[in-house]
Amino acid sequence: MAEMSIKKRPKNLDIASIKLPLPGKLSILHRVSGVGIFLMLPLLLWIFQASVTSPETFATFQAALGHPVVKLILAGLIWAYMHHFCAGIRYLLLDMHVGVDLPSARQSAVIVFAVSLTLTVVLWGVLLW
Ligand code: HEM
Repeated sequence: MAEMSIKKRPKNLDIASIKLPLPGKLSILHRVSGVGIFLMLPLLLWIFQASVTSPETFATFQAALGHPVVKLILAGLIWAYMHHFCAGIRYLLLDMHVGVDLPSARQSAVIVFAVSLTLTVVLWGVLLW
């Protein structure tokens, strides 16, 4: 009987047809950014460790920063961290039952996008240009 009801569950395999509300998009991007930061951590730690070995290696890595591809990767990482950080604070507040009703949750999603994108643009300006 239980097997029958599992088989009858509706399925939607057309992911492109799913229209997520803003908090849903925020949630997906929080996961994507978290995984992105996680995967880049070994590279970042290696760059940091190697760059402080000597003034020459520091200069080499500083020069590499001027490369457009490196800038693009760093720009993505800065966005990922800002989004993950701001959305993370929102999730911690939700975990404490702050702003869990639908209007507040929608409003806080807008705030997270606004703050994280502003911080991203400011950090791009300060660190990359
Ligand atoms: C090195 C930095 C970080 C990495 C690599 C990282 C990575 C991740 C990953 C992979 C997840 C699981 C996402 C999912 O399965 O949906 C996660 C969840 C989470 N992260 Fe981070 N994170 C980092 C920094 C932070 C910071 C600074 C905060 C705080 C502002 C934070 C707050 C959270 C929260 C609250 C969750 C759970 C979200 C939920 O309830 O679904 N993270 N993180």
